[in-house]
Amino acid sequence: MSGLFITLEGPEGAGKSTNRDYLAERLAERGIEVVLTREPGGTPLAERVRELLLAPSEEPMAADTELLLVFAARAQHLAQVIRPALARGCVVLCDRFTDATYAYQGGGRGLSEARIAVLEQFVQDGLRPGLTLVFDLPVEVGLARAAARGRLDRFEQEGRQFFEAVRQTYLRRARAEPSRYRILDAAQTLERVQRDLDALLMEIVELYRG
Ligand code: TMP
Repeated sequence: MSGLFITLEGPEGAGKSTNRDYLAERLAERGIEVVLTREPGGTPLAERVRELLLAPSEEPMAADTELLLVFAARAQHLAQVIRPALARGCVVLCDRFTDATYAYQGGGRGLSEARIAVLEQFVQDGLRPGLTLVFDLPVEVGLARAAARGRLDRFEQEGRQFFEAVRQTYLRRARAEPSRYRILDAAQTLERVQRDLDALLMEIVELYRG
């Protein structure tokens, strides 16, 4: 039996991890085994790569270095966590995945999509999420929420234009492939977002049960 791979995407401050946990509880109530994870990270080694990616440093990180680190962490995460969990028949709920690479390294940093696609194919070998939830939020709301959480990481220190490109890339990708993506309005109250997730739940269970 193979499981279902669901990813949650969106800018900082969109409530992805809170909603990921909410969704996990609703699925577990239905007797479905869920694996919760995140990128960059998800294994001890990949979490160390995450630290490299997020820590502000005096030496500027070249955009290609950033891209390769993201995919290096992903290769480890796929091998250790995602592929084994899918093979066991679990639902994998992952906070960010390759759509974030298109949004941040592609949209934000301006790297070409074709280059990202080459690495995607190399590392994932055709594996893609079955469903991707995009938590959409106006840039200024996300930045204010991130700032309220305290010290900014290397990405959060980017400016408005960077995050506008991130947002537009997510929306463009979601609109181009509506069968895989669902866009949720993350500017609403948490209660309302979770009501939207409840509405999606049947669809997810059906997708899972195939
Ligand atoms: P977060 O998961 O705590 O939101 O932070 C992870 C940061 O890493 C976020 O700013 C987006 C960034 N990121 C990329 O730039 N590319 C990627 O492929 C992934 C997964 C995350």
